[in-house]
Amino acid sequence: MSTLIRTSVEQPLLSPLRLGDLRLPNRTVMAPATRARAAGAGLVPTALHAAYYGQRAAAGLIVTEGTWVDERAVGFVRVPGVYSEEQVEGWRRVTDVVHCLGGRIVLQLWHTGAVSHPDHLGGERPLGPSAVDPHETSFTADGRRPTVVPRAMTRAEIEGTVAAYGTASANARRAGFDGVEIHAVGPYLIPQFLNPRLNRRTDAYGGTPARRRRLLLEVVGAAAAPWPGRRVGVRLSPYWTSARFAPDARTLAEFDELVDVLNGCPLAYLHLRGRDPVPPEAGPDFAALDRYRRLFHGPLIANNGFDRASANALIAAGIADAVSFATHFIANPDLVSRFALGQELTAGDPATYYSGGAEGYVDYPVCTHWTR
Ligand SMILES: Cc1cc2nc3c(=O)[nH]c(=O)nc-3n(C[C@H](O)[C@H](O)[C@H](O)COP(=O)(O)O)c2cc1C
Repeated sequence: MSTLIRTSVEQPLLSPLRLGDLRLPNRTVMAPATRARAAGAGLVPTALHAAYYGQRAAAGLIVTEGTWVDERAVGFVRVPGVYSEEQVEGWRRVTDVVHCLGGRIVLQLWHTGAVSHPDHLGGERPLGPSAVDPHETSFTADGRRPTVVPRAMTRAEIEGTVAAYGTASANARRAGFDGVEIHAVGPYLIPQFLNPRLNRRTDAYGGTPARRRRLLLEVVGAAAAPWPGRRVGVRLSPYWTSARFAPDARTLAEFDELVDVLNGCPLAYLHLRGRDPVPPEAGPDFAALDRYRRLFHGPLIANNGFDRASANALIAAGIADAVSFATHFIANPDLVSRFALGQELTAGDPATYYSGGAEGYVDYPVCTHWTR
């Protein structure tokens, strides 16, 4: 059922915002979502990607799906990269469409590290901070397969990976993006380095919290170098829980320190995935996000389980500057206007999240239920 159009005062989600050098007309951010639609062995974004992101150009900011920084980063089927010229050309078509529709779009840079699988890497073992199996699964052409014991990265491989982030970020700029976001959430390469259970190194990249966060800080520096001003965001998930990841007093204290250190970096924003809401009735945990509002001095985007009412309440409470939505944007290309007009949301179909092809990707309708 429709309700009256609400002003931006009543709906903070609809008011403009500045994130570093990015100027957003509204605070409804499209969260990164892997959709597994890249073409062929070259992992190139196609015209379908341009259609998908173009349909969602009214978002205050689009954060793309995680995108490989190089071939060793690959750890999921049909995910695009940004390391080849064909990929840069494919992404250029996406950014052109989003920009001509008035949108803003940043590219999320991803490396799965030990949460890859030899199937993705020509039979080679994945790279990780140390030779410790993260006990996750990797989405391969044969479905989800258990991870293996990775090979500990050499110092030269770490330096090469940091350089790959720099090249990927420069490629993103050439492809017409408005900035990049560092994917440091979930169980992937950067959180593997942060985590003492997986990072057993005794060199400059392990052993103490400061050394375990060194990879992330070097990646931020490399990703920021190709851009003037503040065009780089960082996405963190301090509450992430899976096989070797569990938030406790020690890990949360280390994230506090990390966020404090990030205050010294030229970031456009910090993008936080909060605690998982406990179904069915619980909404997002505001206090868990407020912890970072107090620590981080720059703009904050909050995520995980929000709807229109809870997102407006969070911003109104001053806990975040913007809220990002993944599942709602998958199923509602016109999410911003549905929020503006108080229209109901469509539910997405998880069976088509990673299925490939147009179905469940570019065929979600805009709302056509109008009442006076
Ligand atoms: C299909 C799907 C793919 C996702 N892919 C990514 C990704 O590539 N990068 C990332 O940082 N988070 C990814 N996420 C996590 C979302 O960005 C988000 O944190 C999560 O869905 C919770 O937000 P929501 O309640 O608005 O859906 C993905 C989530 C879904 C459902």
